[in-house]
Amino acid sequence: MIEWEGKYSVGVSIIDEEHKKLVDIINKVIVAKQHRDNSEEISEILNEMMKYAHEHFKNEEAYMVKFNYPMYQYHREEHLGFSLRTLSYQSRVINGDYNVASEILEYLKKWLVTHIQKTDKEYSDCFRKNGLK
Ligand SMILES: [Fe+2]
Repeated sequence: MIEWEGKYSVGVSIIDEEHKKLVDIINKVIVAKQHRDNSEEISEILNEMMKYAHEHFKNEEAYMVKFNYPMYQYHREEHLGFSLRTLSYQSRVINGDYNVASEILEYLKKWLVTHIQKTDKEYSDCFRKNGLK
């Protein structure tokens, strides 16, 4: 299991709270991976990933637009990549391929490092300058 750590913080507490949901999702995948018949768990996790993408990315992007964040387009493309990836896992599950848990886990762990710890952190100064804490 992974735990939330200071290194994941983007310095804005409302965003950190949302990012903690991703850590929760990662832990659910770790648990689901240990179960032989985990098809329902995996479907549920993918629904949560879609919900996360829909709500959280929308919030981040709204701040970017509001604060005229220069890297908005690039950032949005990474978000889109997450949504598309989740959709492709969903369609595989619908087609009976439940063997995706390991791939989902690797993808989400990578997202934590390459997106949250890198791409997201790049907006910290901008968001904080505009009054978010
Ligand atoms: Fe982001």
